[in-house]
Amino acid sequence: MAAEDDVLFTITRAHLDTGLRGIPVGTCGTSAVDPIKGVSYVGYPVAELYELEPEAVVHLLFYKHLPSDDELAAFKADLRARVGMPAAVVEALKVLPKEGHPMEWLISGLMYLGMTSKTGDYVEDAKNVVARAPELVAAIFRIRSGWGDPIAPDPSKNLIDNFVHMLGVPDADPERLGEVLRAFYVLHLDHGGGNLSTFTGKAVASGLADQYASLAASMCALYGPLHGRANQDCLNFVRSVGTDDEAEVERFVRNALANGDKIYGFGHAVLRAEDPRATIQYAVGERICPDDPLFRTAVTLRKVAVGVLSGIDKVSNPYPNVDAVSGTLLNAVGLTDSNFYTVLFGLSRMTGIAAQIIDERERARGGKGVPIYRPKYIAQGQPPRSIRD
Ligand code: MLT
Repeated sequence: MAAEDDVLFTITRAHLDTGLRGIPVGTCGTSAVDPIKGVSYVGYPVAELYELEPEAVVHLLFYKHLPSDDELAAFKADLRARVGMPAAVVEALKVLPKEGHPMEWLISGLMYLGMTSKTGDYVEDAKNVVARAPELVAAIFRIRSGWGDPIAPDPSKNLIDNFVHMLGVPDADPERLGEVLRAFYVLHLDHGGGNLSTFTGKAVASGLADQYASLAASMCALYGPLHGRANQDCLNFVRSVGTDDEAEVERFVRNALANGDKIYGFGHAVLRAEDPRATIQYAVGERICPDDPLFRTAVTLRKVAVGVLSGIDKVSNPYPNVDAVSGTLLNAVGLTDSNFYTVLFGLSRMTGIAAQIIDERERARGGKGVPIYRPKYIAQGQPPRSIRD
């Protein structure tokens, strides 16, 4: 057991203004991110979890153990009993400006949900968000996409099956859509304590804001194009390649780099190998949509772009990340509007963030909780002086 006064990290001036990159600032009980092996949830590699029922993995994040059959049945029944958004939330969504991004609708919807549903108890509100967020997201999809009125939840259905039911995606095969969304949901749940949306949610909660406000803040962070919104840009990038021919894809990648354009879906702040969440999604794609043209392009990019990026000295990680192929899978099963992809990321990530907020508010430091976040900033160029000088 490490001693309390063990030195974990030496901070120098060179670490200032680097976004806290690599600087230990807290503990995380839900997941860890190894630069080579990638993310594990409570010690289990995500590759061993993504085919479990989503509620079993949510239980793992909340209670730090995989549920027994009886525990899983009880947890699923508990979540089913919590389903149901106040009608006022749907009415509020209907008057939001269509110019807003779907993530702005999600953030607004979370605040409306909080105003009409919050209890102030971090565990109760977390479970209610897990149970009701699918209905919120499905309503956002249907209202904005013109698919008709929101579809009421079916209380007999479990989390993702109910989400597929409420989405009611026109011309989609519910089985294929459900398989992709179950994997997507589990793979995006959590990614250590320091990714921007998780850090933001915990920071806001450290001021004792409730789960809904803290999660809305975390979704504001996820909305950033360098964070969650990268997944919609990734599909648009794959679409722009327009071929799966290796030589032509290599030419496209080299030209893009020569023009200073970004190769979306590759690289990561922490990972130094292929993101296992990408590895898993490529395998899901080979099973679900092996002949989809965009998926074939993404597979060729996986092979070609790594080779090209590996030859660039300043590239610390030339490998695919979670976003590299996620959009091509969603597109292949009927969710073709990439503007909604970050909302799907947020639907999943809210669960992991809510679990980490519970840990920090109710379990950390012997139950006292983590104090309000208050890092130190070094004053720059402001010598002591008086207005009377
Ligand atoms: C995530 O899953 O949050 C992204 O990979 C970004 C990160 O881990 O910082």
